[in-house]
Amino acid sequence: MCGIVGYIGGRQAFPVLLNGLRRLEYRGYDSAGVALVDGSGSLKVYKCRGKVADLERFTDSKDVGGTIGIAHTRWATHGEPNDVNAHPHYSQSGNIAMIHNGIIENYSVIRDALSEHGYTFQSATDTEVLVQLIEYIRNTSRCSLLEAVRSALKRVVGAYAIAVVEKDNPDEIIAARKSSPLVVGLGDGEYFLASDATPIVEYTDKVVYVGDEEIVHICRGRELKVMNLDNEQAQIDIRTLELSINQLEKGGYPHFMLKEIHEQPKTIVDCIRGRIPADGSEVVLSGVVANKEKFMGARRIIIVACGTSWHAALIGERAIEDMCRIPVEVEYASEFRYRNPVISPDDVVIAISQSGETADTLAAVELARNAGAFIFGICNVVGSSVARATDSGAYIHVGPEIGVASTKAFTGQVTVLTMLALTLAREKGTVRDEKFRSVAKGLVELPSLIEKVLSQDDKIKDLSKIFTYAHNFIYLGRGYNYPAALEGALKLKEISYIHAEGYPAAEMKHGPIALIDSEMPVVAIAPDDHIYEKTVSNIQEIKARKGKIIAVVSEGNAAIHSLADYCIEVPVTEECLSPIVVSVPLQLLAYYIAVNKGRNVDQPRNLAKSVTVE
Ligand code: AGP
Repeated sequence: MCGIVGYIGGRQAFPVLLNGLRRLEYRGYDSAGVALVDGSGSLKVYKCRGKVADLERFTDSKDVGGTIGIAHTRWATHGEPNDVNAHPHYSQSGNIAMIHNGIIENYSVIRDALSEHGYTFQSATDTEVLVQLIEYIRNTSRCSLLEAVRSALKRVVGAYAIAVVEKDNPDEIIAARKSSPLVVGLGDGEYFLASDATPIVEYTDKVVYVGDEEIVHICRGRELKVMNLDNEQAQIDIRTLELSINQLEKGGYPHFMLKEIHEQPKTIVDCIRGRIPADGSEVVLSGVVANKEKFMGARRIIIVACGTSWHAALIGERAIEDMCRIPVEVEYASEFRYRNPVISPDDVVIAISQSGETADTLAAVELARNAGAFIFGICNVVGSSVARATDSGAYIHVGPEIGVASTKAFTGQVTVLTMLALTLAREKGTVRDEKFRSVAKGLVELPSLIEKVLSQDDKIKDLSKIFTYAHNFIYLGRGYNYPAALEGALKLKEISYIHAEGYPAAEMKHGPIALIDSEMPVVAIAPDDHIYEKTVSNIQEIKARKGKIIAVVSEGNAAIHSLADYCIEVPVTEECLSPIVVSVPLQLLAYYIAVNKGRNVDQPRNLAKSVTVE
């Protein structure tokens, strides 16, 4: 949800900012803009609707000189995506420019108050209100820019990561955050600022993650200063990034999504590295081991998440209940936070989030914290807000996921949840040793099974051509593969814009079966498992109504060919691991259908990778 970048140092700021925006474009791509202050004290703002490439064209042959600047790529919340609503926004005098990621909830009250003082507003955004408030305070209190920002932030309600620059002040950027991420990169005589570390890593590996409700004072040639809203100095914790620039490139693939799908054999290896030996004799998830009494004493486990992470949570629910016999509830974070849920100190709450910045998930964590529960995070982005807001956790270690549609993070999340279930189950003695080893070994073998699925890339590409012009899709699965059906449908709808629904296969007959006719493609997930025969009966019901069946089945299943119109075969694995194996062909199917339709696969319309607004 909006990407922000800043730079101050000896280089020309514009190329650094543009490069940074390209890296952050996954966060929003409705408009882009930049503000530069040059040595002569002029403040230049260029912004336009569209993508970073549009900004690049727009600024071609314009004066983009200056060694200090801020830049923004927008995911629209207040005000439609157009040139005027694009960031940076100016204060009334044109002296102050600001970029913002988040939502100022009380913006209309502030706008009304400022209007009474003669302020007028060009845009429909909440951001413009905040920059005007900063100027109002600066002028009326005759205080420094830093003091004006601090004072303004004490009056706003909502979420923000902001960066502010001022005309006649080529040596200073003020930045701050609350509930939206912000990282400062420390170079040699230069500072970088960004929503995450991806724009920073090619310049420095030294970063400071700005804490919630902290303000950063970045001055040319001076030490970084961080303080809270009460002006108390904060501790500066310099971290070293473990991120390589190669991880941020497409590596020869046409899209990040395809690269990330094909990375899964490696990302599963990275995810289980150091956690399971090759023989599957043990599973060590250190965050669980270190807090085992919390998990052992848990009355129940509540998992909160959104989107794909919520689908992973449903698979985790099945694995934990099956192997550990601990009751598990899975909640949409956005519902959980507003429904006055019953949470007690002997509940364990697991928050799952790839980005670690999802606003609803963070709010659910906050709610759980206030209720005294122990909170465990499962995240991908190291140092992210969820990772820091939780008591303990486990990273999925799948590397940066840039494609907006989550793929490798999903399989990483399911892998971690399975390891968590195994760790707890052994501790509780609720799993037979043979079963434990078989699932643990299954995890170790997953990368080679996924390789086998990926070798069918061309076959799935051919299959995708048959369904490119379908208007609807239904995905069916049962047990562990019901969430896989939901995830398959989500992948298709978010990148191809084809309407798709996931259902538990047996639930069809209670209503949705009315939708079935010869025009309806139905993806039936039916690997060999304990309910295979039941799923086949559900497929029969679809076949009887002339639905077009694409069956995802276990290798060597010859019988299904008489029933299904098309088959995708996947290697046999443990039942609890089958959602990982079956998801890979569904990711490829969605990907190729979207490509056939000419969609922007990595940046589908209306979406953003990191949803930092509620
Ligand atoms: C996945 O393909 C989606 N783009 C989306 O549902 C995503 O999973 C959701 O927004 C949650 O994100 P998170 O895992 O970063 O919290």
